[in-house]
Amino acid sequence: VDRSELTLCRGEGYRVWDIDGREYIDCASLNTTCGYGREEIVAAVSSQMRRFFGTDISIASHDVVGALAERIAGFLPGTLSKTLFVNSGSEAFEAAVFLATCYWRHQGQQRSRLVTFARGYHGSTLVSRNLTALPRVGHPFASPFPVTHVELPYPARDMRTAEAQERLLAAFRAAIRSDPADPPVAVIVEPMLNVGGGIVLPEGFLPALRKLCDEENVLLVVDEVFTAYGRCGHMFACQGAGIEPDILVSSKGLASGYVPIGAVTVRQHIHDSFAQDPHIAGLRYGHTTSGHAVACAAALATLDILVTDKLDEKARSAGSFLRKTFGQLTEAEGVVDVRGLGLIVVVEMDSAPRAEQVMTNARRTGLLMRQSGEAIMICPPLIVDEPGLQEIATRFVNAVRAGK
Ligand SMILES: Cc1ncc(COP(=O)(O)O)c(C=O)c1O
Repeated sequence: VDRSELTLCRGEGYRVWDIDGREYIDCASLNTTCGYGREEIVAAVSSQMRRFFGTDISIASHDVVGALAERIAGFLPGTLSKTLFVNSGSEAFEAAVFLATCYWRHQGQQRSRLVTFARGYHGSTLVSRNLTALPRVGHPFASPFPVTHVELPYPARDMRTAEAQERLLAAFRAAIRSDPADPPVAVIVEPMLNVGGGIVLPEGFLPALRKLCDEENVLLVVDEVFTAYGRCGHMFACQGAGIEPDILVSSKGLASGYVPIGAVTVRQHIHDSFAQDPHIAGLRYGHTTSGHAVACAAALATLDILVTDKLDEKARSAGSFLRKTFGQLTEAEGVVDVRGLGLIVVVEMDSAPRAEQVMTNARRTGLLMRQSGEAIMICPPLIVDEPGLQEIATRFVNAVRAGK
């Protein structure tokens, strides 16, 4: 099956249909937290369109964007209190890197270097693309800033041990200190590497990294574009890890995929440092459509559903059900690791061609998933119910056992 041939035209709950009427369970759409065709979101969007869709942020703010910023702050602890909105994860990274670099200028320091995972992924625009060392996300331009990359010390499936944590932390410490003449602007990490191969990090890694950034006086930027809004079993993965980053970037699940939106949430003192900035006169940053009222209305409706239906808790139990079920697959069937976080389920096969074969088999049995090398990722909408989970399990196990 050639995956590029797939053309979808309809969705309902956790199912989608292609133009030939074939039905699939969607375990590939990373932003659909609440599923397709959710009336509350559709109603919020259409009512907001009728009332007011917003205006250029250089002219005026509006009530809905303010309500959404406050709602996000309400979920977060302490000083992580100010949010600006953009239209995608990549744009959010343009903003995050810009804000973090400006912050050091406000402290009288000309920092420019960033430290991040070689296998991290933060987007497809120049600034976000320049952060990664993933070969398929490279770019042909001169680098806009230096990046120090941290390699994983072990293969993905061996990355969850205390030993891996120690090696990883030592690597980040060395990366931070690698150029004393140019201390980093920030360390940028995903709580779990998505495009880089569905890599789960050691449990105590984020708190230890937070401590390291404090000791080294470097900002910590956490990329929750994929993990936020219930996907990882908490409203934010940072909450699950018990840490507060300096800048938290989110996007995908915020409006459940109905309308594009991205968010950059910063600590109050970072926001306040812009008050005297002669270039942008306070923290005014964005695009004509930033904080679009329709996108904000979709996000507010999504967050209501997330809280009311306790989708974070559901993500946790659904994820552990699938991991437990897939854990019964054996090495003889080509499965070498089953891992994940919340409702992100990763099954690592013994080779990329084997993973490709499972993807093709699964397409035939009506299951859409994502693949990154040997890793297959299964991420259904968080609203998936008991029968849906059983069906996913059956279709996936059949796809693995079908072989060639
Ligand atoms: C962790 C992470 N960061 C950033 C991005 C970029 O977001 P977008 O595709 O909305 O630009 C993605 C997209 O897959 C992502 O998974």
